[in-house]
Amino acid sequence: MHESRLAAQQRAMDRAFGVDLLDHARSVHALTAHATSVRSGSSSTALDPAASVRGAAVPKPRPLAPLGAPPSAVQASASPTAPRRTTAAVTEAIGIGGSGRRLELQGERQALLEALRERHASECPHCTRASGHTNLVFGEGSANAELVFVGEAPGETEDQTGRPFVGKAGQKLDEMIAAMKLRREQVYIANVLKSRPPNNRTPLQSEVDGCGPYLIEQLCILRPRVIVTLGGPATRLLLATEVGITRLRGAWGTWTAAAWTGLDLQVPVMPTYHPAYLLRNYTAQTRGEVWADLQAVMARLAG
Ligand code: URA
Repeated sequence: MHESRLAAQQRAMDRAFGVDLLDHARSVHALTAHATSVRSGSSSTALDPAASVRGAAVPKPRPLAPLGAPPSAVQASASPTAPRRTTAAVTEAIGIGGSGRRLELQGERQALLEALRERHASECPHCTRASGHTNLVFGEGSANAELVFVGEAPGETEDQTGRPFVGKAGQKLDEMIAAMKLRREQVYIANVLKSRPPNNRTPLQSEVDGCGPYLIEQLCILRPRVIVTLGGPATRLLLATEVGITRLRGAWGTWTAAAWTGLDLQVPVMPTYHPAYLLRNYTAQTRGEVWADLQAVMARLAG
């Protein structure tokens, strides 16, 4: 990327996070040191399998029904042992593996997302039973997004509007996106849960087990180049780890669709702090850390 454009992006991020130049220099240094230690395998946050094993038991991804499958197929697919292999037709339809046909047309992905939205609303084992929420929050953004942000669950404003990240945390996320010189419409924003938990509590594992697979399907349709997980629940789900976000943030991981769907798709994941956490802990350190994480994402997207 052209240097002056990078400098402009950095200034915008500095403004968004209130990070001064000294902080910025420190975070760039930390990023470089972190990247080096991850490459050399010495980082405590590197996503090596051994690190996961050192954490608590790694959750098993739940197998998915093929896209567009009737609810009965969902139950039929729920084998506790092996990931369910999707049919060749479905593989072909979502453009991964098989003949390698890609979903070049935004409309094609959009139609699949709409079908998934309807199917989720009618059959999600969590959301169809949950009470106390007003609207489902499916997710929104460009069906051709290269970058997807995954949060935790809708809050009050999201529940009222049916849109993700439109409350205070959403304003901070908007600043982060703008500082990356992107527009909100260019990215895609989704959550682990599509209905608001009572009093915004952290999602229960049973809720994630029920609703999470629909996020996985969303990601299979979107096939972004990079996913940014915002906070613990999204990171735990996509990286299948129990390691905490403070250890994981800043180090690239990989979301492997094959563990869920049998589809041959791997997407780099950058875990970072949830914007709500950032707002509650608005220090030079946390701002600098998120800033460094987003810079790594920008560099990857530019590469
Ligand atoms: N927090 C989230 O994790 N998601 C939202 O959509 C809003 C707040």
